[in-house]
Amino acid sequence: MAVDHRIVHAGGGGHGKIRLRPGPAAGHRDRVLIRRETGRDADVIRAVTTAAFAAGRPPGQIPNEAGLIDDLRAGPAWLPALSLVAVTPAGEVIGHVLGTRGHVGQDPVVAIGPLAVRPDRQRRGVGSALMHAVLGAADALGEPLAALLGDPAYYRRFGFELSAIYRITPPKPDWQPHFQVRTLTRDHPRLHGMFTYPEPFDRT
Ligand SMILES: CC(C)(COP(=O)(O)OP(=O)(O)OC[C@H]1O[C@@H](n2cnc3c(N)ncnc32)[C@H](O)[C@@H]1OP(=O)(O)O)[C@@H](O)C(=O)NCCC(=O)NCCS
Repeated sequence: MAVDHRIVHAGGGGHGKIRLRPGPAAGHRDRVLIRRETGRDADVIRAVTTAAFAAGRPPGQIPNEAGLIDDLRAGPAWLPALSLVAVTPAGEVIGHVLGTRGHVGQDPVVAIGPLAVRPDRQRRGVGSALMHAVLGAADALGEPLAALLGDPAYYRRFGFELSAIYRITPPKPDWQPHFQVRTLTRDHPRLHGMFTYPEPFDRT
């Protein structure tokens, strides 16, 4: 288990020695590592994604997000460095996030999604770890900006803001209240216009 060491004052009167004592672990309650997907991960990514998206849908409705990932992987928008999995100490893949090639006007940017965590492992920081990792990786690759469609209440914590602030419009106008961008280090002010997802998103 990860242990954080908090500085505490031993003794009274404000003159006590400073010592360290173990405190509750900060951050993840489940320890996971984030790594790039490998050739062996496609099946488990499909299973995790299907389970995560099925949880919010009527029974029997098969989510198409898993098929979307397969279609993206087979096409030109695939960015191998931005397909990341969360792996438990036992080696089990329990989450996945994807970044693929989107555009603002003619300029290349990153389209984020799908993001999925296996339902029995949600609300333990795994989704956050994946999102921070994919944004860090995109920044390290020199990408200027990442965009996604999602709930601002969740994505705000990762630095996403409504795209309208940057004069970036979603492909469908009614997405505006949920369409967000996260600027990265290489962001430049002339990057504005309509965002387009890679083609497989049009089929979902
Ligand atoms: C969204 C998702 C990836 C989050 O994964 P996670 O590992 O549970 O996320 P974290 O543990 O890092 O964060 C959990 C927090 O996010 C919040 N959260 C999760 N989904 C949210 C949403 N749609 N809107 C607002 N808050 C949300 C939770 O309430 C929780 O808040 P708390 O920490 O204050 O209790 C996961 O819920 C999931 O797979 N959902 C189904 C698929 C999906 O909707 N993906 C996103 C759209 S592409």
